[in-house]
Amino acid sequence: MLGLSDIAHNYAQLCPTQPSNHQTGRYESVFTKRGSCCAFVVWDVFPRLTPGYSAMQTVIITGASSGLGAGLAEEFATRGYAVGILARREAELQAVVARIEQAGGTAAYRVSDVTDKDGLATAITELEAELGVCDLLIANAGGGHPMPASAFDPDIISRMMRVNFDGTVNAIAAVLPAMLERGSGHIAATSSLASYRGLAPGGPYSAAKAAVSTLMESLSVELRPQGIAVTTIHPGFVRTPLTDTNDHPMPFLMDLDDACLTMADGLIGRRREVNFPWTTATLMRAVRQLPRWVFEPLLKRVAKL
Ligand SMILES: NC(=O)c1ccc[n+]([C@@H]2O[C@H](COP(=O)([O-])OP(=O)(O)OC[C@H]3O[C@@H](n4cnc5c(N)ncnc54)[C@H](OP(=O)(O)O)[C@@H]3O)[C@@H](O)[C@H]2O)c1
Repeated sequence: MLGLSDIAHNYAQLCPTQPSNHQTGRYESVFTKRGSCCAFVVWDVFPRLTPGYSAMQTVIITGASSGLGAGLAEEFATRGYAVGILARREAELQAVVARIEQAGGTAAYRVSDVTDKDGLATAITELEAELGVCDLLIANAGGGHPMPASAFDPDIISRMMRVNFDGTVNAIAAVLPAMLERGSGHIAATSSLASYRGLAPGGPYSAAKAAVSTLMESLSVELRPQGIAVTTIHPGFVRTPLTDTNDHPMPFLMDLDDACLTMADGLIGRRREVNFPWTTATLMRAVRQLPRWVFEPLLKRVAKL
């Protein structure tokens, strides 16, 4: 007779969205507990028995022409997802799609600026028509650079808010009504561990990402009871084109592949938050609790202000 861990192992082998050995090992250990097995049946097996269920899930990722978004696109494609990607640079998007297709995956792209609400909605609708309805949205487009108070520029700050925050809002708005109607789906956004406090001289970036995290936290409360998972991703420093231009120290800098594995695992586990690397995440959790009289001198010293 099959034990629970055998069932979990077979499931992990068969399930098109979770074929990695790493994931299989996790399922084996997790499913040795009876309570977890019930959760497995409710979350994973039951939806597969409902009419209209398609084994191939669709993930749509904004900001996927490079860095974390492109890496996530390739990671989800290897896990059996159909992948729709969006950004402004067409050649880079084409290259990501070509790599996925060469590896036997399914992908499509649309050129779109996340600050253009209507254009983004149209592009996402087109991707859904091509690949299937969006099961998982990852609003990842964003970025920003330090801006000392001496160079305070409202236009640049407003642009940072538009790309990071409005871009997230626009992407969510494009898929949320249909998810609410279906009573299922998953929305994720890439924030940053820099959102935990006002990290001068990167205040505007911290502020834009804090807005993203706060929005996602509140959406989670409303949407989870309606069958829609909400995940906020808080990366520390990851080696991408965004950080390649940084000339300040980047403690615990993580490789892109490791970051994408961590993010994909957390997303497939439908976690509320994915914070990594654990070293920076632990440090920033502690920093968040510091009283102002400790935090301010410490930051001044670290940032050489
Ligand atoms: N790398 C890190 O250490 C780190 C840490 C914390 C958080 N993050 C966050 O992770 C996300 C990805 O960043 P990354 O590190 O992977 O940097 P990246 O390689 O520069 O990726 C940024 C992506 O966002 C897209 N993008 C930027 N503005 C856009 C716009 N207006 N419309 C559509 N797409 C746009 C870019 O594509 P196009 O230029 O082709 O449009 C690109 O695909 C960002 O939200 C960033 O803030 C990164």
